[in-house]
Amino acid sequence: MFAQFDPLSREMIADPYPLLAKVREDSPVVYCKPIDMWVVSRHKDVEEVFLDPKRFSAAIAQAPLSPMCDEAMAILKADFTIEPTMSNFDPPGHSRIRRTLARAFSTRRMKVLEPLIDRRCAEILDGLADGGPADLAHDLCYPLPALTIFAMIGFPEEDADRIKEWCADKLVVNWGRPSAEAQVRAAKTMVAFWKYCTAYVKRRRADPGDNLVADLMLDESVSPPLSDNEISSIIFGLSFAGHETTTNQLANCIQAVCENDLWQKLREDRDLVPPTVEESLRFVSSVIAWRRIATEDTTIGGTPVPKGAKLLLSLAGANRDPSKFPEPDRFDPARDDARQHLSFGKGIHLCLGAHLARMEIAIVLNQMLDRYADLKLVSGQRYDFPANVSFRGPISLMATWTPA
Ligand code: HEM
Repeated sequence: MFAQFDPLSREMIADPYPLLAKVREDSPVVYCKPIDMWVVSRHKDVEEVFLDPKRFSAAIAQAPLSPMCDEAMAILKADFTIEPTMSNFDPPGHSRIRRTLARAFSTRRMKVLEPLIDRRCAEILDGLADGGPADLAHDLCYPLPALTIFAMIGFPEEDADRIKEWCADKLVVNWGRPSAEAQVRAAKTMVAFWKYCTAYVKRRRADPGDNLVADLMLDESVSPPLSDNEISSIIFGLSFAGHETTTNQLANCIQAVCENDLWQKLREDRDLVPPTVEESLRFVSSVIAWRRIATEDTTIGGTPVPKGAKLLLSLAGANRDPSKFPEPDRFDPARDDARQHLSFGKGIHLCLGAHLARMEIAIVLNQMLDRYADLKLVSGQRYDFPANVSFRGPISLMATWTPA
């Protein structure tokens, strides 16, 4: 019944949840012709796949959704020597890199970042017109996570806008259905950003400084030590993973708080901020799907899938699965099991930036709660979402507020 189901259809991009509920109920593991992938949408099935990296390889996690045109391939072939390092790498190679990168995401580095996020957030909020209206997605959620991850890597701040534009092209190519023209443009920007990353790593070899790249270079416990190409590949991936996701999650969280009239409640009880962030991760995750590929003929939740089957793990489906979360379509920060969501994945690839993302969103919410007696979404606005299978958040979020 759902073989023609298309995660890139206009209906799914606008609001995937109603259709996903039907798919999960009727065909929880189903082959979808329009994307040539198997969509897996029950919580227990998605979890099973995440927890079995032998049967389900992560190799396709960052691949273009459909093969790129010859012209784009030729551009990439010439100059794009990126290699799998993290989310699209399997053990044992992944384990070696994950260990050192996990150390680089140390408590110490997070402690250095916290005051920086605090300061940058305050500067951005200072810059918004008193009472609004402002586009919070564009003016707040867009710049802050980028500044954070780029500071963590050590990229010069003045390059932030350029890097953000480069990353936007990667989104369309790897997770959308781009035209040949868009693929060629994206291939060029990916090469430009790749060259930027390799030149940056070269500079850091001469002058490491105090940043994540220096941590990776100077970690003597990793054997063999990371090569420049590996470090460039890691920061190329991190630049994207670190901001696109958090930008969207911030916007999704603010939207959910407003639509559920929670502003006053949160102002009265700040202990509710962390569970609200967690519930937003479950209810409106910024990563709605992630990919794996079957390494053998197998079954998922009783459905046979062949070796080589490409899987689209629906995190949005899993996070609203009624057999896991009672009344899943209700945004309820008081539920005690929100943390069981799969928005950060699970198992050996569990998101390394989860703590940072939670911290960033909580800082922003707390500062807004300090400053705004209320926050209201401008009524009648239309919410548009980027056309891709994995990353979801409103492109624009117009709001007004009363200064406290
Ligand atoms: C709300 C924000 C975020 C969401 C929803 C998110 C989601 C995810 C997901 C679904 C995965 C794949 C997990 C798997 O395959 O099992 C992942 C992996 C990863 N994420 Fe995040 N992420 C977020 C923020 C961040 C941030 C801020 C950073 C970095 C600063 C980051 C760095 C990474 C890295 C390095 C991996 C690869 C881990 C590995 O393969 O071992 N993420 N994330």
